[in-house]
Amino acid sequence: MASCLCRYRRRILFFCSPCILLLPVYIYVSIALCYVMKHGAPGAHVVHSVLPTHFTASGLKHSRDLAPHPAKSFWRSELDGSALWNIIQFMTDRQYNPILRPHLAANASGVSYNTETSRRTGVGCSPNYEINNIMPDYANLPIQIKNFVTAMHCRDYPLLIDPLDVCDPQAKKWAPVLLMAIKTQSANFDNREAIRETWGRSGRIKTRGRRQRLVRRVFLLGKSKDLHIEEKLHLESEKYGDIIQWDFMDTFFNLTLKDVLFWDWFSRRCPHAHFIFKGDDDVFVRTPAVLDYLLAEAANRSFSHGSRQANKMETFVVGDVISSATPIRSNGTKYYIPESFYKGWYPSYPGGGGVIYSGSLAHRLLEVSQKVHLFPIDDVYLGMCLQRLGVYPIHHPAFLTFDFPKDEPKEPCANHTILLVHKRSPAEMFQLWTETSTPSPECRNTMLRVKPRPD
Ligand SMILES: *[C@@H]1O[C@H](CO)[C@@H](O)[C@H](O)[C@H]1NC(C)=O
Ligand SMILES: *[C@@H]1O[C@H](CO)[C@@H](O)[C@H](O)[C@H]1NC(C)=O
Ligand SMILES: *[C@@H]1O[C@H](CO)[C@@H](O)[C@H](O)[C@H]1NC(C)=O
Ligand SMILES: *[C@@H]1O[C@H](CO)[C@@H](O)[C@H](O)[C@H]1NC(C)=O
Ligand SMILES: *[C@@H]1O[C@H](CO)[C@@H](O)[C@H](O)[C@H]1NC(C)=O
Repeated sequence: MASCLCRYRRRILFFCSPCILLLPVYIYVSIALCYVMKHGAPGAHVVHSVLPTHFTASGLKHSRDLAPHPAKSFWRSELDGSALWNIIQFMTDRQYNPILRPHLAANASGVSYNTETSRRTGVGCSPNYEINNIMPDYANLPIQIKNFVTAMHCRDYPLLIDPLDVCDPQAKKWAPVLLMAIKTQSANFDNREAIRETWGRSGRIKTRGRRQRLVRRVFLLGKSKDLHIEEKLHLESEKYGDIIQWDFMDTFFNLTLKDVLFWDWFSRRCPHAHFIFKGDDDVFVRTPAVLDYLLAEAANRSFSHGSRQANKMETFVVGDVISSATPIRSNGTKYYIPESFYKGWYPSYPGGGGVIYSGSLAHRLLEVSQKVHLFPIDDVYLGMCLQRLGVYPIHHPAFLTFDFPKDEPKEPCANHTILLVHKRSPAEMFQLWTETSTPSPECRNTMLRVKPRPD
């Protein structure tokens, strides 16, 4: 009997010890399964009984405590839609995908478009008229879209005017707190003059907290067809040293070039600036209040995150954030994007009238922009780059890129509640600068507006 039991015990031990060892694993798996069945897998609403034919990884979702985690697709192996930009971006994503790259040809979707040419310099970059073979309705498109698609593989245009004395790229200690990069065109001389004397002053600017902070200013330009104006621009550049000009036609659909080329200029000429303002030449900015706001943000972040301040500032971008926008499909408007070019929603983006981001984010934008194909609307393109970085722009109601709400009652101190307002003429800039630099006693302590924009 005893020997019999003994034999069985050996057998039992032989068969069961792996089971016992694996017990914690079984428990873990059961708990995990129960949890998933109850709460649903994060990002997926169904637990598939069959493996899906295509693995769809998920996009980013904001969470205060966790690292960005998946919510929606950011990459998938099939392509829906036949829009040109989507196809090219799909191929670009594959090219940069470390898992797929060795196995898949870049032109698997049946369209041959050399995404590598977007890296070539101006010299090797001639218009691609073959693009009309890919876009079925090319012949019927407005001229600005035709011009865009035939040149959209080019982005490395050479500098025509490159100011050297804006910053000292070596001297980190003397780096400006704020570098203002203002989009303008050769002909807008009056706007530039007004900005130089008001909100875009270069030098030590007194904040409302009575401290002095270094601000620098540059204007971003392409070239115009008018040779006389171009000549005047060179004289202006000699006088002020604040003109950056590149060798591309300065049109609305070429504005994105000013982003990617400016990020490159910044990384070489002014890499230590703490913050960058990028905006239009027909806005008014309350620069001293902007400095106060930025310094408070930086201090708050360094206070709450200690030595990780630099990392925290890497995601800092603020403006008038536009969410859930879709392309405008009515032919004839400035923003018209045909379905044959782009399908889908636009990511959340800060309106291009004026946006502020940290210098460290600008370096990351330069890097990620190499992997995002040019898009004709510059602020949407910024949103696309931010989305790929997993960065969420902060909406601030004091950025009035659509002016004051029409139905808002007139307040005597309203001009003291803003950081930025669009649109303002040069004469209004002078008036606003005087009014906000020397506030009347009752407006002296006005707070920034917090009310959300009524939609
Ligand atoms: C792209 O497709 C063509 C045929 O359509 C093929 O000859 C070529 O090798 C493909 N390119 C790559 C990189 O696989
Ligand atoms: C768009 O407008 C242009 C003229 O501005 C016209 O020639 C073209 O046919 C229109 N295209 C479509 C798709 O409606
Ligand atoms: C942008 O500039 C390039 C180079 O000057 C030009 O070929 C292209 O037509 C311009 N694009 C638009 C949309 O104007
Ligand atoms: C600091 O940041 C936190 C969270 O971002 C915010 O709740 C708080 O009001 C901020 N404090 C100041 C003084 O700005
Ligand atoms: C605010 O500024 C505008 C100019 O943009 C001016 O017309 C208006 O009078 C100002 N408002 C007040 C209350 O001073």
